[in-house]
Amino acid sequence: MKRIGIIGCGTIGTGIAEFIQARLKAKARVVALCDIDLKKANFLSKKIKPRPVVTSMDNLIKKSDLVIEAAGVNVSAAIAKKAVLRKKSVLIMSTGGLLKNPGLIKKSNVYIPSGAICGIDGLKAASIGRIKSVSLTTRKPLKGLKGSIDVDKIKKETVVYSGTAQDAVRRFPKNINVAATLSLSGLGPKKTRVRIITSPKYTRNTHEVEIEGEFGRIFTRTENLPSKSNPKTSQLAIFSALAKLKEVI
Ligand SMILES: NC(=O)c1ccc[n+]([C@@H]2O[C@H](COP(=O)([O-])OP(=O)(O)OC[C@H]3O[C@@H](n4cnc5c(N)ncnc54)[C@H](O)[C@@H]3O)[C@@H](O)[C@H]2O)c1
Repeated sequence: MKRIGIIGCGTIGTGIAEFIQARLKAKARVVALCDIDLKKANFLSKKIKPRPVVTSMDNLIKKSDLVIEAAGVNVSAAIAKKAVLRKKSVLIMSTGGLLKNPGLIKKSNVYIPSGAICGIDGLKAASIGRIKSVSLTTRKPLKGLKGSIDVDKIKKETVVYSGTAQDAVRRFPKNINVAATLSLSGLGPKKTRVRIITSPKYTRNTHEVEIEGEFGRIFTRTENLPSKSNPKTSQLAIFSALAKLKEVI
């Protein structure tokens, strides 16, 4: 029975805990929860049977075989490092935090779900040969960018960012983990190009990935519906974490 600890009890953390309880209970159990907002951890712990302990990050890592990070880019690298040091497996959602420590994803027990985009498998295969370019064009509804830009000023389709994945993650840390996931799987954060476009008319988080290299060309387009409880997080991102869990547990 794998002991699972979840850091970050918001939309993704809750989805993962409920999935383990409903669909993976023969193989895994959520034993510990951690959140800077204690109320959230306590609320989630009441939904899970047997009830997981609510504890500190360090204690959670000690108690778990597999640590799940669903907290934020400011803590994801520290969590991955601590877990690796203690020889625990770790699944990272806030991939933007790993850009400064890209070596971490080379560790065999650090798992990165594909997130809200398609094409990561093809990009990894293409990376065996020469890659010319990797670009991501993300279209987000205004409410998905709230807090990162002044959404009230935007009245028509507007390009709000064009540049490297590295700067995109710095300027939109809550919105663009897909850019980090893409760059960690291919050309790196300085060479992966990102455009973020918004409009009052958009209703879906849409990601277009274009990859060119000696293999030819890949183009993928993913039209995501936002998750019910967090408009910044696409439902597919949650499903990608659950699919990765099914694979590794
Ligand atoms: N890889 C991807 O494609 C992808 C897609 C969507 C979201 N994400 C990332 O996954 C993370 C979780 O997303 P979500 O939708 O569940 O967000 P959320 O806001 O619903 O939940 C995050 C939770 O983490 C807690 N938290 C924040 N900082 C913390 C810290 N330092 N220690 C402990 N807990 C902390 C918050 O209190 C909150 O309960 C975010 O960083 C988000 O950017 C990644």
